[in-house]
Amino acid sequence: MEKNIAVLAGDGIGPEIVREAVKVMDAVAAKYGHKFNYEHALVGACAIDATGDPYPAETHEVCKNADAVLFGAIGDPKYDNNPAAKVRPEQGLLRMRKSLGLFANIRPLVMFDSLADRSPLKREIVEGADFVCVRELTGGMYFGRPQGRSEDGNTAYDTCVYTSEEVERILHLAFKLAGNRRKKLTVVDKANVIATSRLWRQIAKEIEPQYPDIELEFMFVDNAAMQLIQRPTHFDVLVTENLFGDILTDEASVISGSLGMLPSASVGSEVGLFEPIHGSYPQAAGKNIANPMATILSAAMLLEHLDMHEEGKAVRDAVNEAVKSGIVTEDIATAGSKAYSTTEGGDFVAAQIK
Ligand code: IPM
Ligand code: MG
Repeated sequence: MEKNIAVLAGDGIGPEIVREAVKVMDAVAAKYGHKFNYEHALVGACAIDATGDPYPAETHEVCKNADAVLFGAIGDPKYDNNPAAKVRPEQGLLRMRKSLGLFANIRPLVMFDSLADRSPLKREIVEGADFVCVRELTGGMYFGRPQGRSEDGNTAYDTCVYTSEEVERILHLAFKLAGNRRKKLTVVDKANVIATSRLWRQIAKEIEPQYPDIELEFMFVDNAAMQLIQRPTHFDVLVTENLFGDILTDEASVISGSLGMLPSASVGSEVGLFEPIHGSYPQAAGKNIANPMATILSAAMLLEHLDMHEEGKAVRDAVNEAVKSGIVTEDIATAGSKAYSTTEGGDFVAAQIK
């Protein structure tokens, strides 16, 4: 197959981790006889520096014309403590999601058995946890209008908006995903208080009969926050609105004990985007110490999304092998054992595939 891949490395460690994922995709191309054409484009703080815009029109064109987008990370400390900054890297990210129609953010929680002892939770609680969070990504309070301040500055407001169409499409996606897994779907909401949550619940009940083999349950978000760490093995697929999903996916990511190992996919109407769930880790930029595995596993999700299932599995197996063999970066290496560099991690995975 020949595929066009937009490569948006972004800020901080972005360029280093994306380079390793591209290396791994090249190994896949060589082994399986594919051709990947990469087109690089700017996003985030580096795009602001170069063009004044965190998501330039040119980058949007590159993404739209690609079969998939491989994304690194965005964010720079010079914006973090500067609420007055007029343009922020995050705005680029939100505009990108909306304009590419990326309405579903999919974050699988994968446990690596050899890393279970690194979880802040006890091994017996996390062992066997295997679930996927589906976060709605282009609605809710992130995009609802009006949003802002009163003239005197003493009142601020955000608006949470969902249309039935937005809720239906994400719920269908989640039901289907559950159908390919252990057939259990948890809709997380706050239907005891919030109107949009009641719409979610109503629609979930309406479409439930179309998926008779799926066991559907509802859980209030506060309870879900607790259940996730108390009994993570309870869950198969969780689906929730944008802001709840933002919070719960960060919470869920610590269960595995290795933020540097977790990939994500954002999909929707057009092209899919694949990125590690961690951020731009500016303190490590340029040091060749960042963990490339989350981005490499995101490339595996990208391959699977383009129907290259065997290829995706080969990448996962190679990453597993790296972890088992102790070819890990300093965030995971145990005291006294060698920490490998970003490039050594990518080299090992690429070599395994070949
Ligand atoms: C995420 C991030 C973003 C979000 C920020 C950077 C705008 O936290 O992808 O989860 O809130 O969606
Ligand atoms: Mg977040």
